Amino acid sequence: MNDAAELFDDWARRGRDQGMEDGHFPRAEAILQALAPQPGERVLDLGCGNGWALEWLARRIGPEGMALGIDLAPTMIAHARARESAGPKEQPSRTPLEFLRASFEALPLAESSRDLIFSMEALYYAEDLDAVLKECRRVLAPGGRLGIGMDFYRENEDCHSWPEELGLSMQLLSASEWEMRLRAAGFEITRSFRSLDPRPLPADAPAALRTFRKEVGSLAIIARRP
Ligand SMILES: C[S@@+](CC[C@H](N)C(=O)[O-])C[C@H]1O[C@@H](n2cnc3c(N)ncnc32)[C@H](O)[C@@H]1O
Repeated sequence: MNDAAELFDDWARRGRDQGMEDGHFPRAEAILQALAPQPGERVLDLGCGNGWALEWLARRIGPEGMALGIDLAPTMIAHARARESAGPKEQPSRTPLEFLRASFEALPLAESSRDLIFSMEALYYAEDLDAVLKECRRVLAPGGRLGIGMDFYRENEDCHSWPEELGLSMQLLSASEWEMRLRAAGFEITRSFRSLDPRPLPADAPAALRTFRKEVGSLAIIARRP
């Protein structure tokens, strides 16, 4: 396990995976929608945490699709599997979710075996980001889409202290640097935007939270494998 997975394993043991779901979903939803998942597609969530985004995707791809979540932290995978087995048994409109403990730096998947890859708040923990992006391109079928969402990026100045606060080495890139790295890995950029949080702010919200949710937002990039 690497340092990031150890940290997030600890977070999952403390129940903080639920906090990430609640905090990330409002900005992730626009990215998931932009990916336009279709019935029967094979989808993959990298750094899937407790599996909330895969659940969203599974409802769109229906029973003919395939949904796989990958995370390196064993407790995240345990929570995701527990949640899946606790879910309604009879859900004919949704595909069963599978979860695998593995690193997104070496995906245990065949070439061209997926139609859509989603990843929220995870890829910047990569030790070798270019290797991860190449892996994404390898496992996507031609025409396949990649959608990534990040709160840790250069234009969001309030996040620059995170590596020190978390004690982790993290990839701090600007929007144009992310696009460049994706192009170098063989992707075309379809769309790059900031995903803001549509929830109303609490009346007593601190200024930094207001700015992040309503002006800065998550960096969202949709790319396509030609
Ligand atoms: C900030 S959490 C986000 C989890 C989830 N996507 C969400 O938004 O709630 C980052 C996740 O990436 C996972 N992760 C970090 N490095 C990884 C790697 N090399 N391979 C797979 N997962 C990794 C962590 O274990 C953690 O669950």
